[in-house]
Amino acid sequence: MTPTKADTTEASSTPPNLDAFFRDIARAYLDTPGSAGKPVVAPKEQLAVPHIWKNEEVQRLLKMSEHVALGERRMLRFINPGTPDWKYVTPTLSMSIQQILPNEFAVPHRHTASAIRFFLSGRSYTTVEEDKCEMQRGDLIVTPGWEWHDYGNESNEPGIWIDARVRHHRTALQRRRPSADDGDRRHLAPGWSHPLSLEEY
Ligand SMILES: [Fe+2]
Repeated sequence: MTPTKADTTEASSTPPNLDAFFRDIARAYLDTPGSAGKPVVAPKEQLAVPHIWKNEEVQRLLKMSEHVALGERRMLRFINPGTPDWKYVTPTLSMSIQQILPNEFAVPHRHTASAIRFFLSGRSYTTVEEDKCEMQRGDLIVTPGWEWHDYGNESNEPGIWIDARVRHHRTALQRRRPSADDGDRRHLAPGWSHPLSLEEY
């Protein structure tokens, strides 16, 4: 039997099954902001807070890192306690303290972030493009974004420095990750035979 106008109105006014409704809109990659008893614009759950990393504690942990296989680098990254998921010291700055032991080398790499190295103790070098920059206490070396660079220590004592990198908006927007085949594969240090790597932070 063909439904009357009154029947149609009655059918469309039947309260929908909410579980089915939410399931269907989720399948369609939609949502209904504010429908779960939460504000449409949720307050930020993570907010950077003031914090101090005491040198004594950082140096103690850095010393421990000499005996741990950390992979490519002996690097401790500062993470703001208010934004633990972000892994940054502030919302726009990535920062770490890095140590390289005598006769250690870091694989040449590049990243979109420009960076500074502020050298604290010992001796090491960083090669930026083809400039080998010897580093000692108090030196500041700038690495422009996307420039190949490496690190090495040809001295007989550990080299320690602070790294700081600007967090690019491009990184936050998750743009295409550059491929290892992009651009030249340069050998930075004379006689270098290790593979090159790419990083983003
Ligand atoms: Fe780097």
